[in-house]
Amino acid sequence: MTERTIPNASTGAPRVFSGAQPSADSMHLGNYLGAVRNWVDMQSDHECIYFIPDLHAITVPQDPAQLAERTRKTAAQYIASGIDPTSTPFFVQSHVPEHSQLAWLLTCITGDGEARRMTQFKDKSAKQGAENTSAGLYAYPMLMAADILLYQTDQVPVGEDQRQHLELTRNLAQRFNQRFGETFVVPEAKIMKSTAKIYDLQNPTAKMSKSGLSDNGAIWLLDEPKKMAKKIKSAVTDDGSEIRFDRDSKPGVSNLLSIYSSLTGQSIEEIETEFEGKMYGHLKVALAEIVVDTLGPIRERTLEIMNDPAELDRLLAIGAEKAREIAGPTVASAYEHMGFLAPRA
Ligand code: AMP
Ligand code: TRP
Repeated sequence: MTERTIPNASTGAPRVFSGAQPSADSMHLGNYLGAVRNWVDMQSDHECIYFIPDLHAITVPQDPAQLAERTRKTAAQYIASGIDPTSTPFFVQSHVPEHSQLAWLLTCITGDGEARRMTQFKDKSAKQGAENTSAGLYAYPMLMAADILLYQTDQVPVGEDQRQHLELTRNLAQRFNQRFGETFVVPEAKIMKSTAKIYDLQNPTAKMSKSGLSDNGAIWLLDEPKKMAKKIKSAVTDDGSEIRFDRDSKPGVSNLLSIYSSLTGQSIEEIETEFEGKMYGHLKVALAEIVVDTLGPIRERTLEIMNDPAELDRLLAIGAEKAREIAGPTVASAYEHMGFLAPRA
């Protein structure tokens, strides 16, 4: 039952599945360079399916008024970045009920100890305290396993922080197949080590993140171009004046060099040579222009897409329909293998 049933299966290209939570109004430069751009590039030689895991977003307290809005905004930014919903199934998790259905089956074959060992759960629940931690946060890795296994996925491109969840996913797939018969493809994590680990512009030893100390530390895709340029120009740089990559003694300049390199495709050495004898200011001016040239059009396109929510919703509905064509048979197969009584036709 591990056959492929969707378009492109004939190409034999590995099937790729991934997504990022709609947990902010705008993605930042780190998300773009570290994740989304890779997903976009993979479309050319993989059979990709991407989604917005909104059911994962409610595992921590969230504002109902924001959830739908952020889901649309996130979708718009993916599309504006180059995810092509006409050829790549692209959908919202809650539109495909099979995710919740399969999650329950997988939850029931997961050990309590196994779930409690998930470091993300341990960290987050320790921070919030047991009283403020939902059972949803505990069940999150099983929902994530369901997301992946529903699509008979070969590769899951994610950040390092998701490695353990992928390990659990593989274990659950193997366990299910062993206990109940071949049902799922066992997926592989494709950890994106990308050169693009982008740091906070104001605090260049911390990762650029959705929850940095200062808004000036992150470039948001939806920042106005002038603001993007200003943030680059006011980035913290280091003592001395030499433009040289050295993460330990020059974290600020090194971060600017990595961003420059990721956006232009030039090697760090080439950029160092180009700026030999020049000042930090020169690098910043050049980089500000490159950032604006890359992100400016994506921002414009995002705003255009957001201006036509009906069209966006239509694209997402088509994505959900395509997703269900694969997810439906997978869940049916899992139910059958587990021994559930089939409903009468
Ligand atoms: P998050 O914003 O933590 O939900 O992450 C979404 C995706 O962006 C994940 O695949 C992360 O690995 C990636 N990512 C987040 N922050 C950075 C960063 N500062 N540099 C590179 N990649 C990042
Ligand atoms: N847990 C992932 C994150 O926080 C998001 C996610 C949920 C995901 N389900 C997934 C990623 C399935 C890849 C595949 O980044």
